[in-house]
Amino acid sequence: MALLARVAAAAAADGEPLVDLGRGNPEVGPPAHVVEALQRSAARPDVHGYAPFAGLPSLKEAIAARYGDVYGVTLDPAREVAVVPGSKTALMEFALVTVERGETILLPDPGYADYPSAVALAGARRASFVSFDTADGAALYLNYPSNPTASCVPDGLFADAVRWADRTGACVLHDFAYGDLVFDGRRPQSFLAVEGAREVGIELFSMSKSYGMAGWRLGFVLGNAEIVARIEELQDHVFAGIFRPVQEAGIAALTGTQDSVEERRATYERRRDRAVAALRNVDAQSEGTFFVWFRLPEQMTAERLLSEHRVAVAPGEGFGERGRGWARISLAVTDDALDEGLARLRAAF
Ligand SMILES: Cc1ncc(COP(=O)(O)O)c(C=O)c1O
Repeated sequence: MALLARVAAAAAADGEPLVDLGRGNPEVGPPAHVVEALQRSAARPDVHGYAPFAGLPSLKEAIAARYGDVYGVTLDPAREVAVVPGSKTALMEFALVTVERGETILLPDPGYADYPSAVALAGARRASFVSFDTADGAALYLNYPSNPTASCVPDGLFADAVRWADRTGACVLHDFAYGDLVFDGRRPQSFLAVEGAREVGIELFSMSKSYGMAGWRLGFVLGNAEIVARIEELQDHVFAGIFRPVQEAGIAALTGTQDSVEERRATYERRRDRAVAALRNVDAQSEGTFFVWFRLPEQMTAERLLSEHRVAVAPGEGFGERGRGWARISLAVTDDALDEGLARLRAAF
């Protein structure tokens, strides 16, 4: 993926301008009341020292209340919530606190390209998750709605994961980074809404996608109290807390009007409709997230799309061997860029 970014940058330097549909960063920032909360807080003289290392209790209460309202999950904010500087951090921390060197971590394939880094950091071994009948590992990463496949959780999969983990003693991480971005009338489905989930694992919630706060670095680990405690312990020593105004802005985002969350979701759904209609000649799918995952026609590659058609897409093999022959486009771009990119893809197919 880094290679494609470099090739795209080089290609952008000469010739016809590129359209970049490879990115995965929300194109719109947080609503004004969140930025104002940061400004107000930062203007106070008493916020510039260390914040409480484990995070503000009121921030933990705010995310727990949101979990109750939106996902129907009751959490104890004191024991079942850790505040993290972005959920990516927790992807790494989870592997470090749950898995021994040499043990196996099962990953989705195709899956988010950062998961293998967590495996490597923990000195663990990596295997692709295929089914619970054959799954053999100390930990399992799940991610629904999925980056890159944009699919929502299949019926019963979370319950199967809990049964499997219960039987084998493995730990489960559910990455819920795109949790609120679901289409076609679906309701967001938290792993923690499944009975027994908090006995075997955790869920990660990110402020990056729901609220456009990717650069702010704020997220949560929710669920299993022992894993939450271990992650807090690790964070005490590694990060020594998160800047208080960022946490206070997080409270404003979680407790204020949620209109912007729905606006974002609806915008991506509308763009998804346009993209799937434009890509009707290929197998294109998206039930949520801000991506569309599609099968590349025979002989077509991401490199050819870039060099011959001047449109950057994320090649499927960057997400795992089973992604080969597929590609991902992002809907987190302007409408104009999306339309131009889709026109170029249509011309290529
Ligand atoms: C599947 C997935 N998980 C986690 C993250 C990281 O999110 P955060 O900004 O909370 O670290 C991303 C960001 O692109 C993602 O796509």
